[in-house]
Amino acid sequence: MRSSRKRDHVEHVLKNKFESNNYFNDIYLEHNSLPEIDFNDINTEYNFLGKNISFPIMINAMTGGFDRAVEINSNLAKVAKRLNIPMAVGSQTIAIKDKDYESSFKIVREILNDGVVISNVNAFVDVDEAKKAVDMIHSDALQIHINPAQEICMPEGDRNFKGVLKKIEKIVKNIEKPVIVKEVGFGISNDVAKRLYNVGVKYIDLGGHGGTNFIKVENARNEDFDFDELFEWGIPTALSLLENKNIASDLNIVCSGGMRTANDVIKALSIGANMVGISGPILRELEERGHESAYKYLENIIYKSKVIMLLLGKENIRDLKTVPYRIKGQLKELMVNINE
Ligand code: FNR
Repeated sequence: MRSSRKRDHVEHVLKNKFESNNYFNDIYLEHNSLPEIDFNDINTEYNFLGKNISFPIMINAMTGGFDRAVEINSNLAKVAKRLNIPMAVGSQTIAIKDKDYESSFKIVREILNDGVVISNVNAFVDVDEAKKAVDMIHSDALQIHINPAQEICMPEGDRNFKGVLKKIEKIVKNIEKPVIVKEVGFGISNDVAKRLYNVGVKYIDLGGHGGTNFIKVENARNEDFDFDELFEWGIPTALSLLENKNIASDLNIVCSGGMRTANDVIKALSIGANMVGISGPILRELEERGHESAYKYLENIIYKSKVIMLLLGKENIRDLKTVPYRIKGQLKELMVNINE
């Protein structure tokens, strides 16, 4: 069941774009006509999870554990390796239960060698299972995905979400690697982020609304119910970032959910994200046009990000945090009651 669901997810994401608005268009960065820097001096290197990477962008969790997953994950890992950026694997829960499914996850570590590889499990695993996921691929961190909106629209999905925070707390306190708690496209609110931080979580992946939409994906798989009234449900990624950027200086934020362009990336890094995650479009490039095209898609974003850095007069990633920005339109309306 789990294995065919994984195939379904990939196929549905390829068949339909299932995306909407993450509200990054409502963020405005001001042009600098006197940047006083040399394009060739722009340095985008960044330290993430204790390792040096070329740019704070990562291939975010997607797949593993079905017939074509070895091929897909190998190709994604080769893209990450060429660009020296991190990659998270898809949920390893299937391989924790059955070793036969391990190969599509292990291949990612083999290819990335000493690069940054991130594990992924659901929030119902126990500490031993979380450790197994980390050991399986010697990962640098563990993503725990929280996805009630997806599960509740899935015929075979979970229905009981009691005790999830306690489970997360136990894992955070008992495994040695950093834990990244990750939404899958509906955003993390300020209240949820604080509850996570208060049990020891130091990394959140916003997984905001506006990109790949798993209510739409599950709706397409569900023959019993129609969930189209929930298609706009969720916290837009830009809003989720603004809500959470000031919680604590040691809360690291991965900004994901509809991040598609260099503009999105630089805006997120300027507002306060430590890292940007992208999933759906990389898979689409890879499956529709091949490895080179997936590589070029990300290479382009990285190059254009440097162009925008020049136009902002910023020579490195750290300095982006000093870029003045403005919020307009609907995002501004949604900001009511948020203390920036
Ligand atoms: C996902 N995503 C995901 N997330 C996760 O934590 N574990 C998983 O196993 C999966 N599986 C998965 C399969 C496929 C085919 C896609 C496209 C995505 C969610 C993903 O990591 C991300 O949060 C969302 O896709 C939003 O980002 P994008 O696609 O808008 O960049």
